[in-house]
Amino acid sequence: MWFPVVVWMAVTAVSTEPLYMKIGDTAVLTPNSVVNPITSIVWKLGPNIAMVWNGGKIVSYQQFKDRGTLNISTGVMIITGLTRNHSGTYTAEINFKIIDKTELLVISAVPQPNLYVLCDPEMTYCVFTCDGSTTDAEPVEYEWTAGDERWTSTNQHRITKEEKEWWFSCTLENPVGSSSSEKVHNPFMKSDWRVMFILTEVILVVCIIIFCFRHKCRKERIQTNLNTNTKRNIRRVLVELEW
Ligand SMILES: *[C@@H]1O[C@H](CO)[C@@H](O)[C@H](O)[C@H]1NC(C)=O
Ligand SMILES: *[C@@H]1O[C@H](CO)[C@@H](O)[C@H](O)[C@H]1NC(C)=O
Repeated sequence: MWFPVVVWMAVTAVSTEPLYMKIGDTAVLTPNSVVNPITSIVWKLGPNIAMVWNGGKIVSYQQFKDRGTLNISTGVMIITGLTRNHSGTYTAEINFKIIDKTELLVISAVPQPNLYVLCDPEMTYCVFTCDGSTTDAEPVEYEWTAGDERWTSTNQHRITKEEKEWWFSCTLENPVGSSSSEKVHNPFMKSDWRVMFILTEVILVVCIIIFCFRHKCRKERIQTNLNTNTKRNIRRVLVELEW
């Protein structure tokens, strides 16, 4: 009893794929088949008339007054500066025959997400959270990037110390665009960072020691070559430099 109903609904949902557009954009609604000559056009949004033409003047209603234009030779309706209240199911009636249905969904662009990471006090796991307002921007997807890997998931990604990627970033995506966060380092790779830091410091100290040795040799050579006055000045500077 239930099965046929479910199948019918699924088929309907697939056949009416919505058209997504960004707030502020221009939508061009084109009837998919047109009888010639056109003598009458009615575009409706839901049950309400948006624009109508019956051979005389073109009349626009409500949110189409300033934003809608109608081409009487093609039946095309253009809406400029789309707002949220232009969303809905559009029906074109040309020469009193319903010839087209289009679902238009006007949504916001996604913001740039902020990615942050929090770990438990024992450092057994960390959770990255991809944070960005999705108000008016749905349907939104979260795509994650780590090294060469990319995958789609929720707004959170949990890792343990087995995770060897150096950094993560996330991307907010919706049908009208996408925006990526900054890269954030894997906190478990910090110990390796520290090792590298210490190594760098050791190398630096060795360099300083080598430099000082060479410097001392040159100091002796300079001292024998210069006159006493300059020698005294240089010695003073060198004494100040000594440590
Ligand atoms: C549509 O939305 C705009 C702003 O988003 C508003 O100024 C306008 O009054 C709305 N029009 C209708 C008919 O709801
Ligand atoms: C209507 O559409 C046709 C075909 O695209 C175009 O040539 C014509 O200029 C359009 N008319 C108006 C008033 O925009």
